[in-house]
Amino acid sequence: MIPAANLHGRNHPAFLAEQIQMLHAPVAPTLMKLSIDLLTSAPLLPNGAATILAFHVWRYSAMPTRRHFLISFVTTPIVLPSLGHAASTPVELPLTASCADDHELTPAQTEGPYFTPESPEKQDFASDAPGGERLTLAGYVLTKKCQPVAKALIELWHADESGTYDNIGYKLRGHQFTDADGKWWFETIVPGLYPGRTRHYHVKVQRPGGNVLTTQLYFANEPGNQRDRIFNEALLLDIRATSDGKFGRYDFIVA
Ligand SMILES: [Fe+2]
Repeated sequence: MIPAANLHGRNHPAFLAEQIQMLHAPVAPTLMKLSIDLLTSAPLLPNGAATILAFHVWRYSAMPTRRHFLISFVTTPIVLPSLGHAASTPVELPLTASCADDHELTPAQTEGPYFTPESPEKQDFASDAPGGERLTLAGYVLTKKCQPVAKALIELWHADESGTYDNIGYKLRGHQFTDADGKWWFETIVPGLYPGRTRHYHVKVQRPGGNVLTTQLYFANEPGNQRDRIFNEALLLDIRATSDGKFGRYDFIVA
């Protein structure tokens, strides 16, 4: 903490940084430290400039992190539209549109040419592509009646940030199983573009004893969506910006 004796007025960068730190220390601590370092190491700024700078630092550092979104997702009880109430306590995080849409099954799509069978079980894809923009991908597996499915298989594979698939090993390839509440999540990156396709993830989903759903997930507002011959807006991720990447949500409805 900065000693009060070292402050030179309410417009001093150090004073403003301290106020920001007190207000937003619980949010994005690493980013906050960088911001504080920047402000406190700068010379005294002209009158008003520090206020403007501090405001922009505040706006940026106040954004939730991917981890905050994930914790919220993991700890919030599911809404069951068919029953009209939550599974347990009050609900803050509703299902994505895919489940409220007359409980239709998630559309199937082509597997594409780059699927590799027998991928490892893993949740952390991000270490396979450390240069990519981080994205936490999460959601439920649900039945047609919007009941969560435990122990459902989720397999994910996608291109790296340059649009290249690992067709030799298992970088950016893996699978996991939904938890007892039907939830799944991966730590990965935003896939890069490659010729002929818009931005997308590939997934396979299978509940115990059920059929395999092979499909793809997309990003809204991508210039390539309307040019992509198989793009389907029913497969759009719900993307939220965070202070350290993106959080993408999709709930699969499987037979
Ligand atoms: Fe692909």
